[in-house]
Amino acid sequence: MLHEELIDQCKHRLKPYHCEGFLYGQGPSSPLIMFVGEAPGETEINNGIPFSGRAGQYFDQYLNHLDITREDIYITSSVRSRPYKWGKPNGKPARKYNRTPNQKEIAAHAPILDAEIQAANPPIIVPMGRIAYWRLLGYSPQMGEVTGTFIHSPIRRLDDWEKNTYAFTSKPYTIFPLYHPAAVLYKRSLESVIYTHLNELKAYLKQN
Ligand code: URA
Repeated sequence: MLHEELIDQCKHRLKPYHCEGFLYGQGPSSPLIMFVGEAPGETEINNGIPFSGRAGQYFDQYLNHLDITREDIYITSSVRSRPYKWGKPNGKPARKYNRTPNQKEIAAHAPILDAEIQAANPPIIVPMGRIAYWRLLGYSPQMGEVTGTFIHSPIRRLDDWEKNTYAFTSKPYTIFPLYHPAAVLYKRSLESVIYTHLNELKAYLKQN
């Protein structure tokens, strides 16, 4: 789906940052939905399968609930490598921890997501979590205010890498933000609200 040249350029731009590995987005060329996450974690970088770590178990439950499979959807993320930081757990040897990607890292890989969206032309895009939401729409509301709502809006494409600026597409997309599946790991009480949102999405898929 993507040109290797574009990927090489993005990898080169990410080089100065503490990020490792590279995971391709996965899914059919005309997916039912495109899910956009934040960045792969350690598990995903090691096995090459998006959302296969702890958050992935919740992600698979999302799909089960929607009565769809990974073959129906395209999964990608705002950054395609794992941003990490070093930490020392209680006197044990230092190890790498996942961290949230910063704006330069997101911009470095932005052309990949732009190209994926252009090629797949998904009928609905589901940003999961605030990083993906910010990447596509350019602001960071409380997720509770936007999750489970349909938004018809142009989305951001990287405009100028040097200046770190984005421009909006002329085409509007249908966006349905969800909580990131990892959110449940930190706040169990979100589970029921997530299922309410998934019911909305399921009803939409049935109608369209
Ligand atoms: N978060 C993501 O955005 N992608 C993954 O593959 C795992 C967690």
